[in-house]
Amino acid sequence: MTDEGRLRLGVNIDHVATIRNARGGDHPDPVRAALDAAEAGADGITAHLREDRRHIRDEDIAALIERLTIPLNLEMAATEEMLDIALRHRPHAACIVPEKREERTTEGGLDAAGQDNHLRPYIARLNEANIRVSLFIEPDPRQVDAAIRLKAPVVEFHTGRYAHLEGEARAAELRRIADAAALARKNGIEPHAGHGLTFDNVIPVAAIPQIRELNIGHFLIGEAIFTGLGASVSRMRALMDEARG
Ligand code: PXP
Repeated sequence: MTDEGRLRLGVNIDHVATIRNARGGDHPDPVRAALDAAEAGADGITAHLREDRRHIRDEDIAALIERLTIPLNLEMAATEEMLDIALRHRPHAACIVPEKREERTTEGGLDAAGQDNHLRPYIARLNEANIRVSLFIEPDPRQVDAAIRLKAPVVEFHTGRYAHLEGEARAAELRRIADAAALARKNGIEPHAGHGLTFDNVIPVAAIPQIRELNIGHFLIGEAIFTGLGASVSRMRALMDEARG
């Protein structure tokens, strides 16, 4: 398969840091996990520096930038603090996510349509710094239209609803993701997807031909407890390749 058609796997290592922080020491090291994930076939590493630093910390971002040989995708809220950090470290990509302090995880997509005035300067400054901006949005044509207006080169569709639904409702959500991916691609935006993906639900999303990258974290890190991180990442990689046939 040509590189153009290949579906990339971004491994989110946030929850390695969650386990480390539970005891306040330096084990397990998220950078070591990132290097192992790369070795096992990850095409990129994703890390979310949250406002409350509940998992990844500033020094993790510095160490990842220094030691990774594959691209780093920094997930960040659209705040001045995070913009300064992104401009200082210059990761390959920055995925703008909504952030609420009390949420357990990123519970919904960014309201790019409702917040375009707020987002515009952040996207412009990241674009100017050659950091590839992605907007983490719901698979909704209104949000894709906003991403087009905002000149975001990439969107990442939130697959959390898909992951939690079942039966016909899940099939309908999958169609929404596929339609949104087609709309993005038609308008020159590269579609990615992620959130809540597992060995059991990844194939239908990975089979959507316009989608170029999946970002997967919690399940892979959890599965690593049983099989090791290398096996967990390489099985996900194999399922993604199988989906692309
Ligand atoms: N993509 C984005 C933008 C996210 O915020 C997250 C969760 O941090 C993920 C992907 C990965 O989701 P999960 O940990 O459920 O695989």
